[in-house]
Amino acid sequence: MNIKKIRKDFPILNKNKLIYLDSAATSLTPNNVLNKMVEYYKEYRSNINRGMYEISQKATAEYEKARITVQDFINAKHSSEIIVTKNSTEGINIIANGINWNKEDNIITTSLEHHSNYLPWLRIKDQYNIDLKIVNSDNNGNLDINDFENKISKHTKIVSITHLSNVTGKVIPIKEIINIAHDNGAMVMIDGAQSVPHIGIDVNDLNCDFLVFSAHKMCSPTGIGILFIKKELQEEISPLIIGGGAVKWVNNYNYKLLTNTNKFEAGTPPIAQLIGLDKAIKYLKSIGLQNIENHEKALIQKVYNNLSQNKNIELYGGDLKNRIGIISFNIKGVNPHDLALSLNISSNICIRSGFLCAEPLIRNTFNASNGVIRLSTYLYNNERDIDIFLKNISELIN
Ligand SMILES: Cc1ncc(COP(=O)(O)O)c(C=O)c1O
Repeated sequence: MNIKKIRKDFPILNKNKLIYLDSAATSLTPNNVLNKMVEYYKEYRSNINRGMYEISQKATAEYEKARITVQDFINAKHSSEIIVTKNSTEGINIIANGINWNKEDNIITTSLEHHSNYLPWLRIKDQYNIDLKIVNSDNNGNLDINDFENKISKHTKIVSITHLSNVTGKVIPIKEIINIAHDNGAMVMIDGAQSVPHIGIDVNDLNCDFLVFSAHKMCSPTGIGILFIKKELQEEISPLIIGGGAVKWVNNYNYKLLTNTNKFEAGTPPIAQLIGLDKAIKYLKSIGLQNIENHEKALIQKVYNNLSQNKNIELYGGDLKNRIGIISFNIKGVNPHDLALSLNISSNICIRSGFLCAEPLIRNTFNASNGVIRLSTYLYNNERDIDIFLKNISELIN
């Protein structure tokens, strides 16, 4: 990977001399993605699926072409399995609220989840008075598969689990989880918000039922996410919102919804954003996800080697086995928000602090009552970013 060349693709890095170490929150956007969106706004800005005129046809074609790019990227069988949402959170809410719940059903999730993969299920638990089971992890955030096997039953309607923890960067053995869940007749939702941008996913190989991810974490614009729903299940999931673009016919007192994708995409979708995502996927593929993963692993190894030597630092997540791009820690006795602010003031470092929307894991499992500091990397980070970060940490401790 030619990092020097890659960095030139990201105007924000050059303009502000940023040391951006917060890509797990959101990523930066390269010029070609920005240019593609500007092309839409300047040349064929119009609504899709509505206009008979030329620019609307062009916008529709670009939008649908992008859907196929997403389909290929996650290896879905049909483009109609790709549903455009606002973000991962919306996708999880669509599924949680779209399932036809019975009172004997239960839901399984884990103690590793982001709040977006907790709260929708907590609400369903209260609304329908059904059981929510949480699979435990050990003190390093490794999922306890035995606990999962003990908790799953024929009454489990859905297992909803992250593919890659946003706190530790640990890859979860989801294939094993999916197989066990399917043996018990349960559906599986994969939260790919952190995995899809860094290691990709193959929904066909995994045979998962639902997948969500957020395009803004993979060099694309904000305001767009993807929900994959297996074709066979689309009929039984009710859409969260309905309206224009989702109906086959309407009369004064009745309506009939369209089937498949259209049913879930009522209203004007994020057109420029999906067209931007198409470019972002092509950009990431041209660099190679495996190269990006190797690069991130090398950067994180350097951080880990340095921080793990320092007795004033508490690292979370154990060793680096099966971990990608993320490291969370605390300097003993220092509030993580103070540390993040100080790093920003001294060296323009952008880094996340607090509970990272994963309060159960950070507070209960890691026992970090003020939260943590999280460093996260992506393709545009270089060794200099890491060196400056480590130098700052060492000076602050001194
Ligand atoms: C693992 C995980 N799931 C879900 C989300 C929610 O993503 P979004 O805010 O794009 O909906 C995030 C965001 O950080 C995440 O890291």
